[in-house]
Amino acid sequence: MLKTQVATSRSATASPTVTSTASPAGTVTATRVAQPSPEPQSQPLGSPWPASARPGPGGEVLVGGVGLDEAADRFGTPLYVLDEGEVRARARAYREALPHAEVLYAAKAFLCSAMADWVAEEGLGLDVCSAGELRLATAAGFPPQRILLHGNAKTPEELRLARRLRVGRIVIDGLAEIPRLAALAIADIPQRVLIRVVPGVAAGHHSSVRTGIDGQKFGFRIAGGDAAEAISRTLGQGSLQLAGLHCHLGSQITEIEPYLAALDRLVELLAEVRDRHGIELPELDLGGGHGVRYLPQDRELDPAEFAAAVSERLATRCVEHGLAVPRLLIEPGRAIAAPAGVALYRVLSVKHTADGRTFAAVDGGMSDNPRPALYGSAYDVRLVGRSSDAPPAVVDVVGRHCEAGDVLVRDARLPADLHPGDLLAVPAAGAYQLSMASGYNMVGRPAVVAVRDGLARLLIRRETVEDFRAREVGR
Ligand code: LLP
Repeated sequence: MLKTQVATSRSATASPTVTSTASPAGTVTATRVAQPSPEPQSQPLGSPWPASARPGPGGEVLVGGVGLDEAADRFGTPLYVLDEGEVRARARAYREALPHAEVLYAAKAFLCSAMADWVAEEGLGLDVCSAGELRLATAAGFPPQRILLHGNAKTPEELRLARRLRVGRIVIDGLAEIPRLAALAIADIPQRVLIRVVPGVAAGHHSSVRTGIDGQKFGFRIAGGDAAEAISRTLGQGSLQLAGLHCHLGSQITEIEPYLAALDRLVELLAEVRDRHGIELPELDLGGGHGVRYLPQDRELDPAEFAAAVSERLATRCVEHGLAVPRLLIEPGRAIAAPAGVALYRVLSVKHTADGRTFAAVDGGMSDNPRPALYGSAYDVRLVGRSSDAPPAVVDVVGRHCEAGDVLVRDARLPADLHPGDLLAVPAAGAYQLSMASGYNMVGRPAVVAVRDGLARLLIRRETVEDFRAREVGR
């Protein structure tokens, strides 16, 4: 796979040497940067920052040993910095907490070839929900057997592609899919499938992401018999191998209780399937949704606590129902990607209004992070690259887009002397920002840089107007 250029390692003694090469699109693709070392005995910044984040000299912040101010200078802004070590550590924490379960990273949180490599190398599977994610992952070399395909509206082409690539599992989310998928039988290899059910458990940070309850588009309701019907029909298809049940409750869930409640319902349903059809389904997928810290005071769902509580409850309920314990699957996305990302923005203007508000406008906004506008999501933000003794002021960090709702961080505390040219860093930016980024105002999506051991490498170049123009084929 193509790995773009690599910056040289940080050296405390080297004088700052910088060489850079501009690509035809004007993107810096190669840099050689002497990085500042962290301040002696500097303490980690702590969550919601990546575990590697440390203060450096002169207001600098190092992530993965790379100075954010340096990275912004070299690669431009807005810039997304991904801490490879943080992604790997989080993936590993799940594997260690659930050694007998299958942990699938939910690609919708953020996917690129490097991300696919990291999670594959850490032993995770991959949950994809489109031909795009599927193609990118397999082109990057992700083993298809470890991929699970989701979607409430999979196209016939997507189902065909999934079959052709021999993906490990497909999650059925509609009755029409059952015969459609069955008709795609390949020789004597049955397709392993799960049935997505709605357990009737409400959880998640916003009504738009609560999928464990009735009245939304995903899954088959357990109540009322929809799930039982889908199960019967699937079992009636010889080319489909029903492996188990799936549910996904919602996203940014910080309590374990909703998962336990869902698990209870799913185990009851497994027992009903056994009583009715005489088979014990071997897999139970509890989906994703594990919450992370966006603000220092937020709670996050601890993988080890989750693993202990869920494993114990599963064992208990299976004994009660006389079932063998099924293999557990989980699909965390945000919990692996979000804390690894830091978004960097340059302040373009600071406006003080007569009614006493201060707006710091930056060079990104709702086109790279639509979450505040969509869900009212809160973020932390910090001045990087210079220290300030000015008292904190209440500032709305706003984007550059043509909407008053383009606010990235409302009521942020930032130094009162904030001025154009300052660099702002937003942590917990690794999930559902770039993956939901848009082409609004043709600003173009930001570049993505990976940092590790004092090295920075460009993973995704900045989107330019040439990219927009390249899609135009008529006038
Ligand atoms: N599995 C399924 C079937 C899902 O639909 C999702 C997320 C996940 C796993 C991963 O959930 P996670 O662990 O990342 O919470 N755009 C929203 C989040 C939407 C989540 C959609 N489904 C946000 O920015 O908050």
